[in-house]
Amino acid sequence: MSDAMDAEFDTVAEWTAQVAMDLGPDYYVPAGCRGSGSPAALDWLIDGMQLAPGATLLDCGAGVGGPAAYAARSRGTLPVLVEPEPGACRAATRLFDYPVLQAAGSTLPIADSSVDAAWALGVLCTTPQQQELLDELRRAVRPGGRIGLLVFVAQRDMSSSESEGNHFPRSSRLLGMVERASLRLEQWLSTANLPEMPATWTEQMDEIDRELNERYGDTEAWQVSERQSSRIGALLEEEALTGALLVLSRGAY
Ligand SMILES: C[S@@+](CC[C@H](N)C(=O)[O-])C[C@H]1O[C@@H](n2cnc3c(N)ncnc32)[C@H](O)[C@@H]1O
Repeated sequence: MSDAMDAEFDTVAEWTAQVAMDLGPDYYVPAGCRGSGSPAALDWLIDGMQLAPGATLLDCGAGVGGPAAYAARSRGTLPVLVEPEPGACRAATRLFDYPVLQAAGSTLPIADSSVDAAWALGVLCTTPQQQELLDELRRAVRPGGRIGLLVFVAQRDMSSSESEGNHFPRSSRLLGMVERASLRLEQWLSTANLPEMPATWTEQMDEIDRELNERYGDTEAWQVSERQSSRIGALLEEEALTGALLVLSRGAY
C-alpha cells in the first residue's frame, strides 16, 4: 500500500472515528462511509443483492464500517467486517458493535460458504491482488449468494503516478476477473446514474471534514490524504475514472 493510502486508510480513519464520536451518533454512519459513499449506492446494492433481515454480510475492506452499519440499520443484516489496517479496525470497533477481523481480502479468515453475502466497496482498486480478492469473496459466500462491488473503473490507460498508487481496472479486465472467479454478473450501474446525496448527509460529511481539517490540517497524514482524494476527484471529474456498482452471483453449487 502506498504512503498516501496508508495515511488515508489507517491514521485518518482513526481520527475520523474520534471526530464522529465528538459530534454524536448521527454522524457515525456518514463518517464511516469512506469512499463508497452515498445512501443511494448502498440502497441499490442492498436491493440488487436481495439482502434480507438476519442475512450475514461480509464487508471486505470495511474501513471505518459505515456501509455495513447502513445495511444493518436499513435491512437488519448481520455484518462481519474484514479490514487490513489496524487504525481502521479500531475506528470501526469504536463506532459500531460488529465483529471486526484484521486481514487482507486475498486471505479472508472466513470458512468456505459461511456467509450469505459479501461486498467490497472502493477496495478492489486499492490492491494489485484483485483476482485473489474476488476468488476469496466467492469462496466465503454460500452457493447462490451474492457479492456487491463498488469499483472505480479506468476509461483510459493511466500511469501509476497518475493513478496515485491505485490499480484502477479497465472494464474489460474487471469483467475478465469476474468470469475467472466463476461469478455471474447480474447487474451493473454507473454511479453517475444515481440520485444526488441527501443534503443532510452532505452537510454531515462536510462538518466532519471541517473538523478534521481544523484538528489535523497541519499534519502530513491529513495533507497526503487530502491530496490523494482531490487527485482522484479530478480523475472522476474529467471522466478518466467512473464509479461502477456491480451485483454478482455465485452459482448454486
Ligand atoms: C476507499 S476505502 C473504502 C472503505 C469502505 N469499504 C467504505 O466504503 O467506506 C478502501 C479500504 O480498503 C482497504 N484495503 C486496502 N487493501 C485491501 C486488501 N488487500 N484487502 C482488503 N481491504 C483492503 C483499505 O484499508 C481501506 O479501508
